[in-house]
Amino acid sequence: MRLSIRPGNSLNGQVIVPGDKSISHRAALLGALGDGESRIEHFLNAGVTDAMLSILTQLRVPWQREGENLSISGNGWQGLHASLQALNCGNSGTTMRLLAGGLSAANIPAILDGSPGLRKRPMKRIVEPLKKMGVSIEATKGCAPIIISSTNLPLRGILHKMPVASAQVKSCLLLAALAADSPCIIVEPGPSRDHTECMLSEMGIAIEKWTETENNRVWYFTRLNPDHRQLLPPLNISIPGDFSAAAFFIVAAAIVPGSCIALQNVGLNPTRTGLLEVLIEMGGNIQITERVTPGAEPVGDVTVRHSVLKGIEISGSTVVRMIDEFPVFAVAAAYANGKTIVREAKELRFKESDRISALGGELTRLDVDFSETADGFIIQGCQVRGDAIVEAHGDHRIAMALTVAALAAEASVGVDGAEFIGESFPEFLPCLKKLGADVSIVEEGNGE
Ligand code: S3P
Repeated sequence: MRLSIRPGNSLNGQVIVPGDKSISHRAALLGALGDGESRIEHFLNAGVTDAMLSILTQLRVPWQREGENLSISGNGWQGLHASLQALNCGNSGTTMRLLAGGLSAANIPAILDGSPGLRKRPMKRIVEPLKKMGVSIEATKGCAPIIISSTNLPLRGILHKMPVASAQVKSCLLLAALAADSPCIIVEPGPSRDHTECMLSEMGIAIEKWTETENNRVWYFTRLNPDHRQLLPPLNISIPGDFSAAAFFIVAAAIVPGSCIALQNVGLNPTRTGLLEVLIEMGGNIQITERVTPGAEPVGDVTVRHSVLKGIEISGSTVVRMIDEFPVFAVAAAYANGKTIVREAKELRFKESDRISALGGELTRLDVDFSETADGFIIQGCQVRGDAIVEAHGDHRIAMALTVAALAAEASVGVDGAEFIGESFPEFLPCLKKLGADVSIVEEGNGE
């Protein structure tokens, strides 16, 4: 599907972004493992969460969805049933990695598979530590399909030091650790998102977190003290708006002259909001009002006005706290005055696309001065010319970031592969249009 974007219109109004993708995934899976009827409000309805729900159907977990309300009838650890067919995780790494941990704890044999893109993404990072815990699991050449066979419970607690910060790996191991007979300690070089820890703590599971410094580097520890396969209570939560969806409007308002966008009920967990701090340091005109909420996740309203941005240097834990925001951050950097340098962000090469190389190729077509490095990129900010057709590389965030880039360009832009936006944010285009953007679908295509 090709989008055509004609720049020039300012963007004004309010947006309520969909439910957080990471929390929606966790809520669906923990609801399925829990004992009783879980009620989840503001659940994300999108391609990736549809994949998770279809898999729950295959595992014979009953659920019902009415609009954004999801209820799941969990029956504790006995509630899931093995399927002879492979479980199709689509394009979603979170679905695959979280399920691998949850199914290991529930002792459900399974074949986890997905799209050709997902089959290329690294799975050794979960397979190796799960094996150390005693799970019978294999992945050919470290990639999907992943085969989990019946295992002797209990699993073993392990001390696992991750070379890169990853919430998907951490969450996979924490879920598996629910079936261990001794504590599991996971060490990370950065503060990856902690939604799993927040939710498990709220469900009564003992989790400790602390940091330690070694050779001037901070390590982040998470320790789960299992009470072997304790019954998880059902969930009753309202999912905050997805900060990573809000990020596209935050940058759009900052770069398009005359704009003011108010985003309501956005998740503001500090392990996710690195982009806000970075944009404020760049000169972003951003107001944040925190709301008082009953849950463990901080939530608030964010208002952003057109801003004069300047370049910045980013590395270390800030990279971890804005890992999904680099496609749209690169757009902000392209419109900023001066040079932006991103270091220690090699993980971007292992997302839905190699985001460093995809951004380099496509932003260069829009005439942005972009240099790729092994673990990041350098952008010399300027005005963005546009007048080109760019391509999403099968990546929802690249598609949305390129659309945002076009909103303030000098000439029209076409974005191919826009059908991938539906994986995480099906309402993205209607929201943009409502704010005043001149965006239209010019070719439906076949989605391939
Ligand atoms: C996610 C963790 C991140 C992020 C992804 C969602 C999660 O991946 O990029 O979109 O829900 O745990 P990594 O854990 O691979 O960094």
